[in-house]
Amino acid sequence: MPDITFLTNDGKVVSAPEDANLLRVSLREKGGIPFKCGGGLCGTCKCLIEEGRENTDAVKKKEEKLLSAEELEQGYRLACQTFLKGDVKVSWEEALKGATTGARQVSPKAEA
Ligand code: FES
Repeated sequence: MPDITFLTNDGKVVSAPEDANLLRVSLREKGGIPFKCGGGLCGTCKCLIEEGRENTDAVKKKEEKLLSAEELEQGYRLACQTFLKGDVKVSWEEALKGATTGARQVSPKAEA
């Protein structure tokens, strides 16, 4: 079973079934990745796969819309669109405490 390490949540480690969705594992195990839509539309669940990128599935069209080519190159993914085949370590930007507008801090990607 793949081990998921939630670096931004004090390095919490949980086991997940093979082909599990990253956001779903985070929800079930209280991993702490922020989210809103769960459907690849809002970008709130943007996270960085710091280790184990080879253990994630292919980048989806929705991710290409919400993440820049540079971010994808660096290993950023949308947790709700990412499925896991092995161990990964993931981090993300924490929502500003006390902010009333929620966690959405992703700037929209300009269409070329
Ligand atoms: S939760 Fe909205 S894009 Fe993943």
